[in-house]
Parts: sequence; structure tokens; C-alpha cells
Amino acid sequence: MTDQHHAPTTAGSLPDSAPDLFTWEFATDPYPAYAWLREHAPVHRTRLPSGVEAWLVTRYADAKQALADQRLSKNPAHHDEPAHAKGKTGIPGERKAELMTHLLNIDPPDHTRLRRLVSKAFTPRRIAEFAPRVQELTDELIDRFAARGSADLIHEFAFPLPIYAICDMLGVPREDQDDFRDWAGMMIRHGGGPRGGVARSVKKMRGYLAELIHKKREALPAEPAPGEDLISGLIRASDHGEHLTENEAAAMAFILLFAGFETTVNLIGNGTYALLTHPGQRARLQRSLAEGERDLLETGVEELLRYDGPVELATWRFATEPLTIGGQDIAPGDPVLVVLAAADRDPERFADPDVLDLSRRDNQHLGYGHGIHYCLGAPLARLEGQTALATLLSRLPDLRLGADPAELRWRGGLIMRGLRTLPVEFTPAV
Ligand code: HEM
Repeated sequence: MTDQHHAPTTAGSLPDSAPDLFTWEFATDPYPAYAWLREHAPVHRTRLPSGVEAWLVTRYADAKQALADQRLSKNPAHHDEPAHAKGKTGIPGERKAELMTHLLNIDPPDHTRLRRLVSKAFTPRRIAEFAPRVQELTDELIDRFAARGSADLIHEFAFPLPIYAICDMLGVPREDQDDFRDWAGMMIRHGGGPRGGVARSVKKMRGYLAELIHKKREALPAEPAPGEDLISGLIRASDHGEHLTENEAAAMAFILLFAGFETTVNLIGNGTYALLTHPGQRARLQRSLAEGERDLLETGVEELLRYDGPVELATWRFATEPLTIGGQDIAPGDPVLVVLAAADRDPERFADPDVLDLSRRDNQHLGYGHGIHYCLGAPLARLEGQTALATLLSRLPDLRLGADPAELRWRGGLIMRGLRTLPVEFTPAV
């Protein structure tokens, strides 16, 4: 197997006309379609399966500009929703559920206030203190399958790790975390599908979070103890003069779970897959880890995010006034979707963008977004991604794919990119 062989690339033939974005081929390897769009229709109007028409922005420079443009609102109230799509656009927030008034659906000044508040509770120090717990969780999960010699890395590793980590950080008691895992599993499996089960899971999660916040508020000590959980930190911040309603606190806990969960599952899944299909790069990383170095691990996880990151496109934005992106006029009310996965393969920005180079240094990728909505959880995601990949490669040194890459199924759906399963084999370790 050569390093390029099974990787999603834009090598070779580009489609001759506007590609169909909702096919199985596209879900498996969207990059040729994105290369076509960047070249021929960099700001492209498309009809989504829900019936909503939206602009897709695929060039790096345009994407970066759009992500920072305050004339593009995150509030779904600005959407000029066509009658035929009313109530079924699938745009989060249009259903006005209480949990939806969160960071990714609001603009300044509310966004500024809430983001400042949560940043106080979500500090780099708190993340650093959390590193031993992430390592412990990673090892516990690997212990469960290490002696078997095979595993499905999505279900047994990439999926549980982030949910347990974020639950711990929020302060959800261990005995309740499996409920969260099940609710989150329902959301991930049926994200764009049948709404009933998802709605029930969201409702259960909302009820649970409201009660947990209430209990923690009642029992909050006067002074913060070291390692205080995030929900207590949020309550404390709101009790110190900065207004945060219980509903906002619940919406905040929900977005931390939601934004930090499927993304990290896919960082670990896509990242491991990319390493297993690029043996040269993987061997380099394994050598550097064996020598106790971390540099290549750190640049490598950034490169895995650029090369085949979890978030295919950033969340919805809506024009609040007439504007132009990449020479294309956008009307007020129009939805704009910034395709991070396309921007991060733009040859105008990245040398050899279709090549995975774990030591790439000039790598200001957009995988975590850009501007005021830049990923709040990036330090936690980096910690989890680095710990997961380094521990897997160190503990299971001959880890290999347990299926032909052509048999693997990607989730599809344009927003998130990730594998449904990732079967692996290795020499059993005790
Ligand atoms: C925002 C990516 C992990 C919490 C974002 C955005 C992106 C992103 C692209 C911006 C979306 C936009 O502008 O529309 C990722 C990736 C992750 C990851 C690739 C994993 C590899 C996490 C984690 C957490 C988190 C672990 C928290 C526990 C958030 C929050 C926002 C956000 C709260 C909204 C920030 C705001 O609107 O001000 N993330 N994320 N993310 N992310 Fe992440």
C-alpha cells in the first residue's frame, strides 16, 4: 500500500459539471467535488435535501473572510425561509427549542456576554489539569479490547472517549454518563434522519441538565474548590453579577456536549484512518513517539484536521444585508455555508494540499473555524486527539485496518465527515 493509495484525494479527474453533493461517492470522497467547486463555482448556490437553497463558499480566502464577516448572522431568525421549507429546514434553532439559544446561534452582544462567561470556566489551566483524566480514560477504553486483537475503533474508542471526557468536565456524575452516551448515540446515528428518537433524546438531556444545574446551584460552596466542574463554574460566574439564566446555562452545557462530541469522535476516527492508510507518515510518528518527542504529534494532529477534518462545513450563517463574497452578490436572508473541508485543500493557500504531511508548519487551517465563533473547545479537542492517537500507536504498535478501505462507510450529510465503523486488527496486548 503506498502512502497515497487509499487516501481521499483530488488527484486525477475532476467532474465536468457541477457535482452532485448528496451521493454515496461524494460521502466517501468529497474532495474532487470540492476541487471542482473551488475552480469553477467558488461561491455556489445549491439546493439541500431539505429544500433550502444555500451558498457554498469553498475557497480559503473567501471562507476566512465570510467566517469573520459580522454581516453574516448566526441567528436563524435572519433566514428568509421559503414557504415550501417552513419548519423542515433542519436548521438548528429554527424550531426555537430552549436549548438552541446557544453560542452557535447568536450574535453580539449576547454572544460576547455568554462567550466571556464560559471562557472563564473553560480555561487553558482547567484543560491542562484535565490531561491525566483523559489519559486514564483512553487507557481504560483500550484495556477493554487490547487482549482481543481486533476492535471497532469508532464504537469502542472514538465514540465513548469524548462523551465521558466532556461529562466529567461538566460535572455529570459517573453513574449517569452512560445515559448521556446513549442520548448522544441517538443524535449521532439519526442526526439528519427520523426526528422522533432525536427529539426524545434532546428532551431527556434537557430535563436532566436542568435538574443537575438546579442541584449544583443549591449545593454550591462559597469558594471554588480546585478542579471544580464546569457547570459549577458557570453557575458561579452567573451568580457574580453577570447575568446567565438557568435556560442559558442548560443551553451552554448542551452546546458544549454537542459541539464537543461528534467532532472529536471524527477527529479520532478520521485521524486514525488517515494514519493507517499513510504508512510512511504513521511510521515517522511512531518513531518520534518512541523517542519521547511531541513535536510531530502536535503538528500532526493539526495536519489531520486540515487534511480530513471532522467538520465539513461551518454552521449556518445568514446575510443581514446585501454583500459580496468572492465576486458573488448575496441577498439579505440568504443562507451561507462555509465549506471548511474545501478551503483547507485550497492550493492557493496550502502547498501540495492533497498530501498528508504531519510535519507541515505553515498550517493555518480553518478546521476550528475563524473569528468570534472560533472553536471554544479547541484546546480540549487537541488534548483528546493527541492523547488518543499517541496512546493507540504506542500500545498497539502494529495496528492495521481490519477491512478493505473500499468497504468502509462514511456518514455523509455534508456537515460532519466521519466513518460509521473502523474495524482494526493488532497483535493482542495484555
Ligand atoms: C465552535 C470545530 C471540538 C465547543 C466550533 C466551530 C468549529 C469547531 C469549526 C465554529 C463553527 C462556526 O463558526 O460555525 C471543532 C472541531 C473539534 C471541536 C473540529 C474537534 C476536533 C470541540 C470541543 C468543544 C467544542 C471538544 C467543547 C467541549 C465548541 C463551541 C463552539 C465551537 C462551544 C461555539 C463557539 C462560539 O460560537 O463562540 N468548533 N470543534 N468544540 N466549538 Fe468546536
